[in-house]
Amino acid sequence: MRFLLALLVVATVSAAAAPIDIPIETNRTALVLRVDADGHLMTVHHGKRLQQAAEYGRLPGITHLNEGYSEYYNSAYTPAGSRSLLEPAVQATHADGNPSIDLVYMRHETKPAGAGVTLTTISLKDPQYPFEVTLNFRAYQNEDVVESWSTIRHSEKKDIRLQKYASANLYLSAHQYYLTHYHGNWASEVRPEETALTAGMKVLDSKLGTRAQMLQSPMFVLSLNQPAQEEQGDVLAGTLAWSGNFQFQFELDPYHNLRVLAGINPYASEYTLEPGRDFTTPALIYTYSDQGTGGASRSLHRWARNHRIPQGKGDRLTLLNNWEATQFNFDESRLVDLFNDGKKLGVDLFLLDDGWFGNTFPRNSDNAGLGDWQENKAKLPHGLGYLVQKAEAAGVKFGIWIEPEMVNPKSELYTKHPDWVIKLPNRPDAVFRNQQVLDLSNPKVQAFVYGVVDNLFTKNPKLAYIKWDCNAVIYNAYSAVNPTSHLYVDYVRGLYQVLERLRAKYPTVPMMLCSGGGARVDYGALKYFTEYWPSDNTSPAERLFIQYNYSMFFPAIASCNHITDWGNFPIKFRTDVAMMGKLGYDIVVNNLSANDLAFSQQALKTYERLKPVIYQGDLFRLQSPYTNDIASVLYVSEKQDKAVLFAYLVNSRFKAGSELPPIRLRGLQPGKRYTVQETNLMPGAKSPINNTLTYSGDFLMTIGLNPVVNDRRTSVVLEISEAL
Ligand code: DGJ
Repeated sequence: MRFLLALLVVATVSAAAAPIDIPIETNRTALVLRVDADGHLMTVHHGKRLQQAAEYGRLPGITHLNEGYSEYYNSAYTPAGSRSLLEPAVQATHADGNPSIDLVYMRHETKPAGAGVTLTTISLKDPQYPFEVTLNFRAYQNEDVVESWSTIRHSEKKDIRLQKYASANLYLSAHQYYLTHYHGNWASEVRPEETALTAGMKVLDSKLGTRAQMLQSPMFVLSLNQPAQEEQGDVLAGTLAWSGNFQFQFELDPYHNLRVLAGINPYASEYTLEPGRDFTTPALIYTYSDQGTGGASRSLHRWARNHRIPQGKGDRLTLLNNWEATQFNFDESRLVDLFNDGKKLGVDLFLLDDGWFGNTFPRNSDNAGLGDWQENKAKLPHGLGYLVQKAEAAGVKFGIWIEPEMVNPKSELYTKHPDWVIKLPNRPDAVFRNQQVLDLSNPKVQAFVYGVVDNLFTKNPKLAYIKWDCNAVIYNAYSAVNPTSHLYVDYVRGLYQVLERLRAKYPTVPMMLCSGGGARVDYGALKYFTEYWPSDNTSPAERLFIQYNYSMFFPAIASCNHITDWGNFPIKFRTDVAMMGKLGYDIVVNNLSANDLAFSQQALKTYERLKPVIYQGDLFRLQSPYTNDIASVLYVSEKQDKAVLFAYLVNSRFKAGSELPPIRLRGLQPGKRYTVQETNLMPGAKSPINNTLTYSGDFLMTIGLNPVVNDRRTSVVLEISEAL
C-alpha cells in the first residue's frame, strides 16, 4: 500500500509537468537529456551540437529511442531491479532488503565552474526510498570534453549495499559501431584492436587492483558508421579517471542503439554505504568529435594541458636516468660520474632509479629492501644530501625513484608491520616481482606512504623530481582493517588521498607516473603527476607504435620518451623518436662515440627550440605506422606559425619508403607562407631539403612535402616556420 501511494504521488507530479530538456553542451557537442512524462531521465541526443537548441524538442519520435518492453533503453542512469531489462548503471540493496531501484527526476542546475567550464548536476530520487543519485557533468566548452560522474547517497534507517555504481551511462545512435580498445602486457602496452560491435554486450575490464592498465587499458574509441578514421567521421573517445579496477560495457540494444556503461569494476566491490555519506564515483572523461580520432585527440590533449595535468602549460626537465645503465649496481662515485655525464650531455636533471635504499635487507636486486627507505650505507655512505649537493656542483638537478606503495617480504617494514600488507590470513603469500602491496585503505599506511615522500623532501629540499613506481598487482585481496569488499575501491582512494596531501605541500615538483612500465597511465593519477612512463620497452621501433597509441588520449608533454640502447638503433633514430614527447636519456654517455655525443649535445639544444611546439601544439597524426612504410606526425603551434614534422621509416623491405607520394600536412594556415628546414642532422650530414624555398600552407596541405625518408635516412625532422 505504502508503495502504491508513493508511486501515485510521483506520477501525479510528473504527469502535470511539461517535459524538461537538459542540454549539456560544449562549443561543438551536446548531450541532451529529457525528463519524460513519468519523471524518468532519458538520453535523446549525444553528438554534434544543434545550432538551434529549441530543435532538441523534435528529437523524440524521430529517433527510435524509447520504445519496446522496457522504457529504460535510453535511461541516462539505468537503475537495476525495477523495470529495466538491460545492464544497469546502478544496483543496490536497500536497508530493508529490497533489491530494486527506481529513479525519478527531482531538480537540476547548470552553473559556471571556472572560465569556459559549466557544471550540470541532475538529482534523481527513488520514489520509495530516501535514496538519491546526482549525475554530474562538467563540460569544457572550448575543449569539447565532458567529465561525467555520479554521487550516490541515502538516509535510510541502516546501511545499504551498493553492487554497481557506474560513472557514466551513455547512449548513442548510429548504423554501425566500431570499438577500438587497447590491451597489452609488460613491454607491449596499449595494442589497439578494432571490432564491429554486434548485438549483445562487449565487456572490457581489469582486476589488477593497484593499476588500471597492463592487460586492458581504461580507454576506448567508438567510431560511428565506419571504422575509425584519423581526420573524418564521428567518434567518441573516452577514458576513466581511475587507477584501479575498471569496467566498460558496450551493449547494443534491440533498437540497434548503443549503451555504454563505464565505471569502477563492480567485481568483488560491493560497497556498504552508511546513511548520510556520499559515494562519489570517478569521472569518465570523454569527447565527441566529428573530425575523427585526430579531432578527439586534440580535444583531449588541450583539456589535459589546460585543466588536468599539473603544469600542463609549463615546461619539463630533460633528464639522464641510470636504470638501463646500471640497474642496481652503482655506488656514490659511479653516480657522481653520471652527474658529470649528464652535464656533458646537456640535460637538466639526473634521475637516480631503484636500488639506493635498504640496509638490513639491501636493495641489490628486486627481491629485498622495498619498504626500507633509508639510504643504503654501503652504496651511499654520505647519504642522499651529499648526492644532491654533488649533482648541483656538477650543474644538474637531482631526482629520485620511489615505490612507496610496495614491500618486499625481505624487509624491515614487512617484519614490523605484517598487518599493513595485503594478503590472506590462510593462504601462502603470493608475490609479483618479489613484492607485495601495502594496504592503502588503512590510514596508517597512507600516513607511512606520505611520510616516505615528505621525509625525502624535508631532508633534501633541493630534490627536484620524483619517479613514482608501482610494480605489483594485488593478489589475495584482503584487508586486515577494512571490509574486504571495499579494498579495491579504498586502495585507490587511499592513494589519491596521499597524492592530494603531497600536492598540497609540494605543488610544483615534477613527478613521473610509472608502473612496471606503462601499467598506470590514466587521468585519475595524472591529476597529480606531470608526466607518465609509457613502457619499459624503449626500442624506438616499438615506441613508434606505443607512443602513437597513447597519443590518442594523452598529450606529448606528459609522455616520457627516453633514449636507451634497446634495439641497437642509430642515435639519430632513437633521438627523433624520443623527441615526439618529453625527452630523456638512459644510456652510458661515455659509451657514445664522439660523433654520437656531438649529435646528442646539439639535439638537446635543438629540442629547447622545438619543445614549445611539441608540448603545446596541436598533434596531427599524418601517417600511421600501422598502415604506412613511413610513419609521420606533425605538431602545429596554436598561432600556426611554427610546426615540427617527424617522419620515420617503419618497413625495412627493399625500397620501402621510396617512391611514395608526398606527405600532406595539416593544421597550417592556407594563406601563410612557410619555410621548411631539416633539423637534427648528424654532424656533417647534408640535407636534401631545400631550406631557401617558401610554400603556402595551402600547398603544404594540398600537395605536401617529401621528407626524403629511405634506408639511408630512416628518420627526418623538419622545422616548418612562417616566412617573415
Ligand atoms: C620498473 C620501471 O618501469 C623501470 O623504469 C624501473 O624504474 C624499474 N621498475 C626499477 O625497479
